[in-house]
Amino acid sequence: MSAVKEKILVLDFGGQYNQLIARRVRDNNVYAEIKPYTTSLEEIKNENYKGIIFTGGPNSVYDMSSPHYDKEILNLGIPVLGICYGCQLICWMRDGVVKSADTREYGKIDVTIDKKESVLFRNIPDSVVWMSHTDYISKAPNGFEVTAHSDNCPCAAMENPGEKIYAVQFHPEVTHTQYGNTLLKNFIFDVCGCAGDWKMEGFIENTVNALREQIGDKKVVLGLSGGVDSSVAAALLSKAVGSQLTCVFVDQGLMRKNEGDFVEETFTRLFDMNFVRVNCGDEFIAKLKGLTDPEDKRNVIGTEFYKVFWAKVREEADGGFFAQGTIYPDCIESGKGDADKIKTHHNKVKMPDDIKFDGVIEPLCDLFKDEVRKVGELLGIPKELVWRQPFPGPGLGVRIIGEITKEKIKVLQDADAVFRDEISRSGIENKLSQFFAVLPDVRTVGVMGDHRTYDHLIAIRAVTTDDFMTADFARIPYDVLARVSSRIINEVDNVNRVVYDITSKPPGTVEWE
Ligand code: XMP
Repeated sequence: MSAVKEKILVLDFGGQYNQLIARRVRDNNVYAEIKPYTTSLEEIKNENYKGIIFTGGPNSVYDMSSPHYDKEILNLGIPVLGICYGCQLICWMRDGVVKSADTREYGKIDVTIDKKESVLFRNIPDSVVWMSHTDYISKAPNGFEVTAHSDNCPCAAMENPGEKIYAVQFHPEVTHTQYGNTLLKNFIFDVCGCAGDWKMEGFIENTVNALREQIGDKKVVLGLSGGVDSSVAAALLSKAVGSQLTCVFVDQGLMRKNEGDFVEETFTRLFDMNFVRVNCGDEFIAKLKGLTDPEDKRNVIGTEFYKVFWAKVREEADGGFFAQGTIYPDCIESGKGDADKIKTHHNKVKMPDDIKFDGVIEPLCDLFKDEVRKVGELLGIPKELVWRQPFPGPGLGVRIIGEITKEKIKVLQDADAVFRDEISRSGIENKLSQFFAVLPDVRTVGVMGDHRTYDHLIAIRAVTTDDFMTADFARIPYDVLARVSSRIINEVDNVNRVVYDITSKPPGTVEWE
């Protein structure tokens, strides 16, 4: 199901910035989709793309094991923009000359625009761009004109405007390229002639209409976790089919303080749907009794969660459809290596064979995370849910070291709530990527009033990161840390000491287990 009229194809040759290219195009209200270089020419012809962008890639075009494409793609009459490897590929396809340099040109480089009147360089002066290449174009193909150069790169850009084929050796999608967005805009609007009507308001309207048509008078079951994606999928489906939608929400007792009630209250008050909450905290604690190994705990939590979830879905399944909050990055096929392989992700869950639905609906499968949030806001989901920080599937289970007990869950929930409240009051919330409390299995001696205490230690963790693959501990001001510490000790029973985790990732991970 796709609610898109006007599209740019990002043809993926394995570069690292491919999702970024699509996102930059979409930031200009033009839908872009990523497909691997193994996509057939026939398929591309049938999709009516307004333009095609060849991405970068790590390979050399003369290495025939590197990704290539049918040269006919340049004769379809569809505007093409080649970036980095994509630029060299166009050169190779049209019999220009690509050479390998002795050293790589990498980083911020000054380029000189040689053809100021080029449509691609409209409103772009000589400026800084981001380069990352070893091969370079030493002779542009016949019919192409060199339009920019740098000290080490005789052809930093070339074009054949008659055929609407453009190519740049640098990366316009990266923010280090000063006029990168202007260049992409020039391509998508002035070369491709896009209208720029990919807006989230329109997406909602089109998707709601398409969902109504697809679902008819049947039922839909959705697994709601309270995370951003499933919440927005729920709101969208509710708008489309109201009470034909049943959301199954499993509260395994390992959510943050009052979170289960907040999710239930939000969805039952604001949206028309059947909301089915399964409270199984006690059963989970019983299953986790005596377990201390992090992997054993994770396995039990994961297995039990799906057992409970599928049992409820089985009860609710009545033909109809099963919906998931899968978003675009979960679905993109990679242009690297085995192109048939779709990235596995926890959002794509395997349904037991005995549960039968007429089909699966993924209403957000065209959207990036920031677009999902925008849709969520437009649908009236509270900001706390739409802008929620990531929360791990096993919940507080990965933040309680050692055996998980009801008492420890309560201590951790209370301490975590204080920490989050202080961060929110101090106004630094949007500077942090993730922040939470951890309960190590440690008691320490302290003194309160005239009494000796022997109580829990709470660790607090706050990180900044772009991608969660690496992370740095956040430099929270000391006075904020002081307030957090004093409030946790005063307000949370059975805690007498607070420490701040100053480990980056690597060598640590974000979570403690
Ligand atoms: P780590 O601890 O691996 O965490 O540095 C990186 C990010 O992933 C989240 N995380 C999880 N998310 N299921 C999830 O859905 C999990 O089992 C899980 N473990 C870690 C973590 O919160 C951080 O954002």
